[in-house]
Amino acid sequence: MAERTLIILKPDAVQRGLVGSIIARFEQKGFQLIAAKFMKISKALAQKHYAVHKGKPFFERAVQYLSSSPVLVMVWQADDVIKMSRRLMGETFGTEAQPGTIRGDFGCSHGFNLIHGSDSPASAEVEIPLYFKPEELIDYPLAQAHWLYGPPDEA
Ligand code: RTP
Ligand code: MG
Repeated sequence: MAERTLIILKPDAVQRGLVGSIIARFEQKGFQLIAAKFMKISKALAQKHYAVHKGKPFFERAVQYLSSSPVLVMVWQADDVIKMSRRLMGETFGTEAQPGTIRGDFGCSHGFNLIHGSDSPASAEVEIPLYFKPEELIDYPLAQAHWLYGPPDEA
């Protein structure tokens, strides 16, 4: 079933000029871009974004990092996009992430990690409205759907 996920290319991805390389991986995988916004996340919004981590030792650092410089916020759609995106991203930090993953290929920090992706359908449902109004999510037919998923089931 088609699913949507919130992806953020974090401040280090923008500042290091990795936006195009990272987006290319999502496009090549066959995901559909539904919304995108280049913005600077306020501290208040970053606190909302990481609300599930409030009270953890890294909370303040994560909020400061996410709100430190502009980011590219996107919504991508595909069947099972949430699980697949997390696999494309790799483990939380480049120090542990496998080569071949975004975090594994583009970073070696145990602090900055280039990208955020919703970790469950429930998280995506909370996160997407933090950044986009319903009318900013653009529904459109994917021209290559047949070649990605095979022919539609016979009725
Ligand atoms: P994200 O939410 O950004 O996609 O990252 P994630 O699911 O892989 O990791 P999560 O556990 O949700 O952590 C959120 C962000 O907090 C920072 N963090 N620091 N032990 C630490 O120092 C630590 N753990 C997490 C990272 O910026 C991480 O992306
Ligand atoms: Mg997370």
